[in-house]
Amino acid sequence: MRRPSISVAGAANFDLISYIERMPRTGETIHGRRFGMGCGGKGANQAVMAAKLGAEVTMVAKLGDDIFGHRTLENFKSFGVKTDHVHLTDKALSGVAPITVDREGNNSIIIVTGANDLLTVEELEAARRDIAAAGLLITQLEIPLEATLCAMRIAREEGAVNLFNPAPAFADLPDEIFVLSDIICPNETEAELLTGIRADNLEGAEQAGRALLEKGAKIVVMTLGGNGSLIMEKDTSIHVRGIQVDAKDTTGAGDCFIGSFAYFYACGLPLDEAARRANRIAAISVQRPGTQISYPDAAELPEDIFESL
Ligand code: RIB
Repeated sequence: MRRPSISVAGAANFDLISYIERMPRTGETIHGRRFGMGCGGKGANQAVMAAKLGAEVTMVAKLGDDIFGHRTLENFKSFGVKTDHVHLTDKALSGVAPITVDREGNNSIIIVTGANDLLTVEELEAARRDIAAAGLLITQLEIPLEATLCAMRIAREEGAVNLFNPAPAFADLPDEIFVLSDIICPNETEAELLTGIRADNLEGAEQAGRALLEKGAKIVVMTLGGNGSLIMEKDTSIHVRGIQVDAKDTTGAGDCFIGSFAYFYACGLPLDEAARRANRIAAISVQRPGTQISYPDAAELPEDIFESL
């Protein structure tokens, strides 16, 4: 099996997850059912997922020189993620994400990005060789926009594939970011925010996907929760059906999909097959609590998931 090489420029947070019956009202104190914590952050989650499947992963990130930062660094190393471009700073605390998960497994997340905000374009430039060598770069929007853009420009200049996950999304993203996106991978809510088109059913999702292609993205891979994903190119649209499972905690499921999709795509599978296999892995993750700790590793997965790689 060929080992694909992937780089990720993005955030690492420490996730503090409370499992609750319902959200408290203003001024109210409620009991939570359970608490969990672990390494998170969209970039880190995607990197760890791809590494768990067997990719060679380089991470570009900034952590606080604190207990969460050191724990995150160890975590990357434990999965074999290359950390030459993971920086520690004493100028800010590590990013954290207080998260609540309700009875249905739906989450609400606050991110306090902290040290992630201090990742600089110089530090991304320093990672140019590794981004070029990797051949596929994953980015998101939890580090400064200028840093994300810089990473994507480097990938484009070096001939690497840009897989851009516009999360958390905001409406007025610069046009350039769409043009730099070889693959843009939003969920329905993010697609709606970026295009102004409601994407909560298949027809709306296709319209929003079309709008993203018109903005300059070459390929759209839109995740549709339990409904699977939608793969769109200029003249084609494929709906990859979802897998119905009893979701306990959907935190980080999108990142699990993206890290897995990037792995299978970088292995050379066609887009729809890469999405089909990534759906299967994300369906496992939502049945377990936590973020990265809910992601299966290669040894736990059925053999056919690695067929013809
Ligand atoms: O996508 C899930 C992630 O969003 C969490 O790990 C949290 O840290 C936030 O970045």
